[in-house]
Amino acid sequence: MQQPSLRRPAPPRLTRLRPALMAGLLGCALAGCASAPTQPLHQQLGGVQGIDAIARGMLQRMSTDPRTRRTFDGINLKTLGNNLAAHLCQVADGPCVYEGETMAKSHADLNLGGSEFDATVQFLRDELDAAGVSTAAKNELLRRLAPMRRDIVQPGR
Ligand code: HEM
Repeated sequence: MQQPSLRRPAPPRLTRLRPALMAGLLGCALAGCASAPTQPLHQQLGGVQGIDAIARGMLQRMSTDPRTRRTFDGINLKTLGNNLAAHLCQVADGPCVYEGETMAKSHADLNLGGSEFDATVQFLRDELDAAGVSTAAKNELLRRLAPMRRDIVQPGR
């Protein structure tokens, strides 16, 4: 007759895995679980050079499109391009220092309307798309710029 076994049955698989699982979760909590670290926004936009190209493309369209060009007479586009690029780069947490005026002050005398602002945002979207910027990065930049609308557009326009 067979003797009853005195050996304890093997623990279920999950019980044996639990210490490893706990260690993994703790590691995630301490170090973060993201599989790929996200680049800073300015790098997702192509770095300082990429942002410079985006700003100049946007300005080129703003200063020539019939919907937006009226305020650009006599404006030095090279200087404005430098300032716009530095501004966008700083908004995107890049290594640039914008030394121009506030958005309210620099646009105060231009009497800009909502439709001019919206067309400008579309130019920026187009430039970001043409540069191959991801949808997430594009939306993050636009989200950061959106509150400036109230400083740039004249009330009631
Ligand atoms: C999110 C939208 C916008 C941003 C981030 C932006 C940004 C800037 C920046 C950084 C400057 C330079 C200010 C300085 O150097 O002190 C500037 C100036 C200027 N912007 Fe905008 N701008 C926006 C919308 C617009 C729109 C909608 C227009 C017209 C359609 C416009 C027309 C101008 C003009 C003409 C100047 C030069 C003003 C001057 O030198 O007297 N901007 N903008």
